[in-house]
Amino acid sequence: MASTTAPDLEIPFSSCVIDGSPEPCMIVIIGASGDLTARKIVPALFNLYLNDGLPVPVSVVGCARTKMSHREFRDRMKEALEAAGVLNDSKWEDFSNLLFYQVIDYEDLSSFTALADFVRDLDRKKGTAGNRLFYLAIPPSLYKSTARMLGRAGLSAEGENGNGWSRIVVEKPFGRDLESAVDLDESLHEHFQEHQIFRIDHYLAKETVQNILMFRFANAIFEPVWNRTYIDHVRITVAESLGVEHRAGYYEQAGVLRDMFQNHMMQLLALTAMEPPSLFEPDRVRDEKVKAYRALRPFQTDNLHDDLVLGQYSEGTIAGTSVPAYRAEPGIHPQSLTPTFAMMKVYLDNWRWQGVPFYLTSGKRLAEKRTEITVQFKEIPHSMFRRTLGERVAANRLSLGIYPDEKISLTFQTKNPGARVCLRSVTMDFHYHQNYTGPLLDAYEKVFLDCMLGDQMLFWRQDGVELCWSFLTPVIDACETCGDRSDMLFPYRAGTWGPKAAENMMK
Ligand code: BG6
Repeated sequence: MASTTAPDLEIPFSSCVIDGSPEPCMIVIIGASGDLTARKIVPALFNLYLNDGLPVPVSVVGCARTKMSHREFRDRMKEALEAAGVLNDSKWEDFSNLLFYQVIDYEDLSSFTALADFVRDLDRKKGTAGNRLFYLAIPPSLYKSTARMLGRAGLSAEGENGNGWSRIVVEKPFGRDLESAVDLDESLHEHFQEHQIFRIDHYLAKETVQNILMFRFANAIFEPVWNRTYIDHVRITVAESLGVEHRAGYYEQAGVLRDMFQNHMMQLLALTAMEPPSLFEPDRVRDEKVKAYRALRPFQTDNLHDDLVLGQYSEGTIAGTSVPAYRAEPGIHPQSLTPTFAMMKVYLDNWRWQGVPFYLTSGKRLAEKRTEITVQFKEIPHSMFRRTLGERVAANRLSLGIYPDEKISLTFQTKNPGARVCLRSVTMDFHYHQNYTGPLLDAYEKVFLDCMLGDQMLFWRQDGVELCWSFLTPVIDACETCGDRSDMLFPYRAGTWGPKAAENMMK
């Protein structure tokens, strides 16, 4: 029988879901006529509303170029909730009264001062204490100018002219190389201070990703073996079955290294490899991640082939459906050399990890969507069973399943029943939702909650962004400028696990 309390803590599950009560505030979505707002942001806000996760009072102001009345914006958002399958008719009317709309022109300061007037007026009427969260749901090319306009319109200042706190939320990509990342950051900092900037990585808001730290640091038995003495290698895999979808323009410029490695893969690596922080507190956790990034061994760019495999999907079949090659996708150049797959072997030069390879793999149009971290332990040093079983006994393996299997599995050897000495590998599984029946927070809900609470634990800090770019920019530059660029790109059939060359690198 599933229990409704977390037994170890003897507290109801529901009290683990929402942490703290956010102060009254106004959430301003810049780019409210776009896809992200309809698919992720408003559904997340609605779910938070249903779970009492939004403050009282709260207002949500959508802004975009499209001219719309408050009513039209509300109607659109109702359709979005319906499409996302989360509309609850009995709650919609009350929620819709929290939504407002203000048209904006990204190039025009006067439209931002009009926004500032609107925001102040609404703030007075609704009692949201001058606290504002600006969520940039716009193309990254508009981040710099929008942050500047918000600042010039007086919307970034805190504690003056009736303002409470002011926070700005941006999502990757944070630049396309080290230089542009620094430049973006300087623009954000013209009007916002670091504590006001929230750089999202939605992977960090996944429950199973957060659980990596709990698993490692709330148990005494794993940390002593979590090092080069016992671990042979680590695999971090983020496989996707989806292709480039409707994002050709962005993806052609980004490719898998910018799209997945510079952010999500680096975060998963840091969580797996970092040292234990002295306190579970945003800057101490982020300090330890930064130390892990500092330990990354610079890539041998003159010998890329040794530690990097790039691929691009050709046509194939996924779940019984034929899918086109990357180069035949709408908007993609027919001779495109953009990689949709990469496997990278990286090392961390420190005492814990010296000599242990981390294989980072991510790709589109692979056999299935699967995100997983596998820690492969070393073989036993000496086998007393060698007369009967030969020298080799399969080594232990620990898998941290992030998606779709939200589970932790430990594989170990046991005796096979019977008179003859035979071993068999068995697996001990923990499913993340085992004995849990409480509500769940989706990644964007968690992001909003933390932004409203001002908790930066799950957000990138600029030093981390820059260190990761410092590591990856030379690799990306070398890939994009080398003479044998097309030789470096291995085709793989959609629906497989990537190019053969990647398998060979693991051997
Ligand atoms: C995004 C990438 O950051 O993450 C996408 O831009 C990718 O290309 C997505 O598909 C994967 O996220 P998730 O949560 O579906 O694994």
